[in-house]
Amino acid sequence: MKSFNSADSDLLEEIILHRRDVRGNRFLDKPIPQKVLDKILYAGVNAPSVGFSQPWEFVLIRDTDRKQAIKASFRAENRKAEAAFCQQRQESYKKLKLEGIHEAPVNIAVFYKPSDHPVLGQTSMKEVGRYSVVCAVQNMWLMARALNIGLGWVSILDPQKVKDILNAPQQNQLVAYLCLGYVDYFYQSPELERLNWEQRKDFSDLVKEESY
Ligand SMILES: Cc1cc2nc3c(=O)[nH]c(=O)nc-3n(C[C@H](O)[C@H](O)[C@H](O)COP(=O)(O)O)c2cc1C
Repeated sequence: MKSFNSADSDLLEEIILHRRDVRGNRFLDKPIPQKVLDKILYAGVNAPSVGFSQPWEFVLIRDTDRKQAIKASFRAENRKAEAAFCQQRQESYKKLKLEGIHEAPVNIAVFYKPSDHPVLGQTSMKEVGRYSVVCAVQNMWLMARALNIGLGWVSILDPQKVKDILNAPQQNQLVAYLCLGYVDYFYQSPELERLNWEQRKDFSDLVKEESY
């Protein structure tokens, strides 16, 4: 049986704490070797999944025109997003860089592929299939960080537009759109915290004993 020591768990904690969402302001124009990319994808496909259904599919996007089309969806959705915030926040919102579609050498669209037969564990809570895909994304995010590769999650997109651009099967659902690349710098804390958009919640407020 493989056993880990405290140095191993300290290292894992360091990777977790140093993982950052990376946007276009930090990506370098430097290709990611396929072997390195495969290591990140391999971390993804080794995530837990309900009933071991492994309900994920990944589309790698490097083509400039395809990125351009996805970026157009971001622009349209981001204009709508601005309206959701009050005047003062709207000004701050407009200044935020919230994607790195062009700047990142590789984009990965991560899909949930629903099963056409009942899945063990997914009979009551249908959404656990998509949760499994999120587990894959988190594994990829941590492995990317351990390889000193930045990863940013872009969700300000019209999923149907992305599916059309990527010729995705109708039953597949877009879970995540990821931008990956080497970076000039990893911030110590979330960018949204540094820019005073949100603050980290108090640990003690988040954990309850026995019941609410
Ligand atoms: C489900 C999900 C969707 C996200 N979508 C976006 C996004 O559209 N644009 C963006 O800039 N960041 C996005 N993020 C990144 C978060 O803003 C980021 O994780 C958070 O601010 C904490 O920063 P950190 O990841 O660097 O710790 C997303 C993160 C998650 C988990």
